[in-house]
Amino acid sequence: MFPIHRPRRLRSHPQIRRMVRETVLTANDLIYPLFAVPGASVAKEVKSMPGVYQLSVDKIVEEAKEVYDLGIPGIILFGIPEDKDTEATGAWHDCGIVQQAATVVKAAVPDLIVITDTCLCEYTTHGHCGYLQVGDLSGRVLNDPTLELLRKTAVAQAKAGADIIAPSGMMDGFVQAIRQGLDEAGYQDIPIMSYAAKYASAYYGPFRDAAESAPQFGDRRTYQMDPGNAREALKEIALDIAEGADMLMVKPALAYMDVIWRVKEATNLPVAAYNVSGEYAMIKAAALNGWIDEERIVMETLTSFKRAGADLILTYHAKDAVRWLG
Ligand code: PBG
Ligand code: ZN
Repeated sequence: MFPIHRPRRLRSHPQIRRMVRETVLTANDLIYPLFAVPGASVAKEVKSMPGVYQLSVDKIVEEAKEVYDLGIPGIILFGIPEDKDTEATGAWHDCGIVQQAATVVKAAVPDLIVITDTCLCEYTTHGHCGYLQVGDLSGRVLNDPTLELLRKTAVAQAKAGADIIAPSGMMDGFVQAIRQGLDEAGYQDIPIMSYAAKYASAYYGPFRDAAESAPQFGDRRTYQMDPGNAREALKEIALDIAEGADMLMVKPALAYMDVIWRVKEATNLPVAAYNVSGEYAMIKAAALNGWIDEERIVMETLTSFKRAGADLILTYHAKDAVRWLG
């Protein structure tokens, strides 16, 4: 018996394949992360992330122009401050490095959307995402005092021109605290993209080189999620929605495609996936060894995030991907 159903009929010609393709990646889907450092004319490549640089504010502006000209709608800014302290002053001070970068980028490229990562780990001496009891070496971040600092950070970022606030510290109630702070300061129209389901992941390793934000003791498992949990992600997103989140993020992406899918099914809000530093580093390392076809692997990976339900993808591959889209 020959088969009646022949799915291969629709694979027979590139044009037919084009006609029936379900998921198509576009530049609209991408957000490019940038790392701001103090100084001038600084462009220091991150060792574990070939092609990714720590950039001084003047260089960030050049980069922002390039990103905009490529048709990528937005960037997300991280900052490495001059000094770190226990209060994370560099995060919430009006002259903080991310605030400086946001201000000049918005002045130079007003139509590029500037998202600011709102967290404290780059700015604290201990490298944790929040406030610790003085002398506490357990790494158990104090939730509610941290909310105050996050609120101040978000308001300072909005004041500097940030278009979207992206809190990433996984503190309980952080969306509500930031929403309230923004509203009270007159920023009712600034959306919050919440890192709603962020896992305690080894895939963040290279980022911590880039952002100089590795915890000096302990780990982030008392605030980031356990990799074994997916139902808990639905609890986290339900809370963030109730607290006023406008967009939700799942992070990392590659090992958590099922979570992206579940979150997408559970909400009508836009879903973002963070294709994190370790995922980038693995592809880069293999590509530099000539072991894989970088272009095809990157496009397949990014398309698959979209197929899994991501409306937006934060990725260090963004500029290359747009060039490869042609
Ligand atoms: C910190 C933060 C992290 C990333 C973005 N913001 C990770 C962490 O150190 O917990 C990871 C991004 C990446 O790996 O590309 N709140
Ligand atoms: Zn953090």
